[in-house]
Amino acid sequence: MRIPTEKIEEIRNATDIVDLIGSFIPLKKRGKNYVGLCPFHTEKTPSFNVSPERQMYHCFGCGTGGNAITFLMEYEKVSFVEAVRSLADKAGISIPKSSQDQEDIASEQEQLYELTREAGLFYYNYLNETTEGKFALEYFHHRGFSDEIIRTFGLGYSPNSWKALIDFAAEKNLSIELLEKAGLVRKRDDGSYHDYFRGRAMFPIFSTTGRVIGFGARKLYEDDPLGKYINSPETIIYNKSKILYGIYNAKEAIREKDSVILVEGYADLISVYQVGIRNVVASSGTALTQEQIQLINRYTKKIIIVYDADSAGSKAALRGVDLILENDLDVSVVSLPEGEDPDSFVRSKGGKALEGLVENSISFIDFIAQSYEREGKLQTPEGQAQTVRAIVQTIAKMKDELKRNFYIRQVAEKYRLYESTLVRELEKIIGGSRRTIREQNTHLIPIAADDIIQNQKHTKQEIPNGERDLLHAILEGGVEVLKLIIDSITPEDFTHPLTKTLFIRLLNYFEEGKPIDHSVLIDNTNDLEQQRLIAEIAFSKYQLSKGWDESGIQIERADPKEIAIDALNMIRRKILERLTAENQRQLQEASQCGEDVLPYLERHRRFIQELMELKTKIIK
Ligand code: UTP
Ligand code: MN
Repeated sequence: MRIPTEKIEEIRNATDIVDLIGSFIPLKKRGKNYVGLCPFHTEKTPSFNVSPERQMYHCFGCGTGGNAITFLMEYEKVSFVEAVRSLADKAGISIPKSSQDQEDIASEQEQLYELTREAGLFYYNYLNETTEGKFALEYFHHRGFSDEIIRTFGLGYSPNSWKALIDFAAEKNLSIELLEKAGLVRKRDDGSYHDYFRGRAMFPIFSTTGRVIGFGARKLYEDDPLGKYINSPETIIYNKSKILYGIYNAKEAIREKDSVILVEGYADLISVYQVGIRNVVASSGTALTQEQIQLINRYTKKIIIVYDADSAGSKAALRGVDLILENDLDVSVVSLPEGEDPDSFVRSKGGKALEGLVENSISFIDFIAQSYEREGKLQTPEGQAQTVRAIVQTIAKMKDELKRNFYIRQVAEKYRLYESTLVRELEKIIGGSRRTIREQNTHLIPIAADDIIQNQKHTKQEIPNGERDLLHAILEGGVEVLKLIIDSITPEDFTHPLTKTLFIRLLNYFEEGKPIDHSVLIDNTNDLEQQRLIAEIAFSKYQLSKGWDESGIQIERADPKEIAIDALNMIRRKILERLTAENQRQLQEASQCGEDVLPYLERHRRFIQELMELKTKIIK
């Protein structure tokens, strides 16, 4: 959905960037700004600056920078709209639905989010406030779930009735068609509706930004004819293969520990989380997908699979391992004792015991070997060959050649085989499937690729000081400064693609009569380098002014108009120097060909004169 510009501004104005960033990383006040360790690169001394005055951040170490929205986008790896929404939520601002005729899929999506949230609350309240719900509440307690964890995960109970939710929705004026689209009610053949979840323990499924998108529902009654767990059907807001259960609650811990524990079930996740192991997500019984792995990849590259020891569990784990390696993430495996799942394991042995297992998780090589060993394969030479081949097949899934070689060596050592034999085996496999590997490569997050292109385009060339200062002056002085310089410079006078683009954008703002504002400029581009440049300028010390002491604290604000004139002169001088050099080259050519050199000499004189004039202007 498109969020109106004014709304975005309202949300930004209601946000304090120091509070926002301070809620993720420790910040200390220094001068007018706050500083901390940059969350986007590793550093020991803080060079990450946040300005309450500007409502922007900038890292002098890695060059990243922007406003509250770009911070959330980068830090949480969410889209622009998701970031704006999340800020709106925090600020308690509601984003209005677009006008009736614009009601497209996007706003329907919005309504579904709202509806699903309402349903989640309904189930939660039913669990906690009704006699019927008490039975389910006792069930949760009996499983060892505390009230606090029930609240954290919004667990609930769907009444054992065909129309409890329907009645609730009618009372609240929620549309039944929408309830159907959310997968919460079903249509009978006669056109009437009934509740989909009946008499079940409800596990709301949250998006990465914490919105309810669907439910998992566990059977509670013997006579319930449906499966142990049923789930919301796929809807426009719930795509099973793209989400992992628990990710919203786990993401912070995943980032912190730089690893994620992957379990299978809803109850597994909650029990593990409850004993303090919070970097945990659940695949909810379905086979791990590429999209889920990419979701994890936003936060960490290290996955530890903790699966049931039964053969179905280990088969699923094996498939997961291959896909994880194909996607260039690292994986190790914890096999639980026979008959245990993560939930039962932590309940009987405790969190420390699970942590111990996780610390001693085995590499995928040993994991494959073990599963073959369990089938008695390691006793015969044929079985051994088969095992090694299976391992090599898995290694072949990795795209990183260095990693492949590393693991091949490990297998060679482990089985006392010649490395060259294994390499040949590996090459046979890769030779046959190289194409497919490359094809898979292409649909891995195109956004990242864009950024790389942008970086390559710009970082080669340094931004000339004059160009940077001029933009600085315009951003500071706005329309006043633009009016002053507009006749003296054109976009073509800018030599750097970044500054040129920014200048053109500023001209457009000027022509459209829009006020010039750092944050608005940042929001209206997807170009990361543009955003960084604007932030960098906002934090830069004036090259030309004497308005700063050596610690960078501003003692007197320099006049943007003065800076603009100085910067203009600097740019003009650079242009003249370029023109002079070019003219000199042409003069030489002309004289060698016996052409008339007078025009060149005349031009040279003019250039030099202008240069001299510029110099005196600067001194004055
Ligand atoms: P399990 O059968 O191992 O159940 O399924 P569990 O998680 O241990 O459940 P509890 O402890 O008896 O409550 C593992 C996961 O597979 C999915 C669910 O996500 C479940 O948590 N599943 C299982 C289904 O989706 N449908 C089913 O019928 C069974
Ligand atoms: Mn279980």
